[in-house]
Amino acid sequence: KKKCIIAPSILSLDFSRTSEQLKEVNESKAEWLHFDVMDGHFVPNLTFGPDILKGVKKAVDKVMDVHIMVSDPKTYADIFIDAGADVLTFHVEALENMEGVVKLCKHIRERGVKAGVSLRPKTSVETLLPYLEYMDVVLVMSVEPGFGGQSFMEDQLEKVRVLRKEIDERDLDVRLEIDGGINDKTAVLAVEAGCDTLVAGSYVFKNDIGKAVDSLLCLK
Ligand code: DX5
Ligand code: ZN
Repeated sequence: KKKCIIAPSILSLDFSRTSEQLKEVNESKAEWLHFDVMDGHFVPNLTFGPDILKGVKKAVDKVMDVHIMVSDPKTYADIFIDAGADVLTFHVEALENMEGVVKLCKHIRERGVKAGVSLRPKTSVETLLPYLEYMDVVLVMSVEPGFGGQSFMEDQLEKVRVLRKEIDERDLDVRLEIDGGINDKTAVLAVEAGCDTLVAGSYVFKNDIGKAVDSLLCLK
């Protein structure tokens, strides 16, 4: 069985029970905690700023997996790195070209943080392939970014297969993460297609947190 990294997404946390739920996440077998940043412009929703990240990082001893869904990733990458991001993932669509994407990946790495690049469902994966060595994480969106609780887009698994083949053939050290609609059923499909890192929001926080994480851990 292959062990996955599970990244519960605090977008789905019950904020009336924040400390209680963060404690449960902390005690779970999740290695990462996924932190969704939305700017009300790149996506039609608003979430958390850097001070919230600082607070969460104090409360939880996990790798802070920060996913910035913002139109200006060059500015916000540094702001969230300063606030404690361990992995900083931005969207390829927010930059003009791959030169810009590579430049920002290099910058994130120079700051000692893992660089991730994310793709919206409609964005093709091919343009990314020649530049994978600049990335530590590729995050495939399996829902339209903006909201938790949407259903899994199975057609995104084709991208995962292409990336898995490329990563393996070139023996690259890139984590292949999926985000959106992950539960105990869709996680099996994602892992079979080649994902090794699973984001799960509503599935984890609407169930017993520890047990939900356990159910996603070893699927293959
Ligand atoms: C959506 C976010 C996801 C979200 C996933 O834009 O990027 O991280 O939390 O939520 P679920 O797992 O409920 O689809
Ligand atoms: Zn996310």
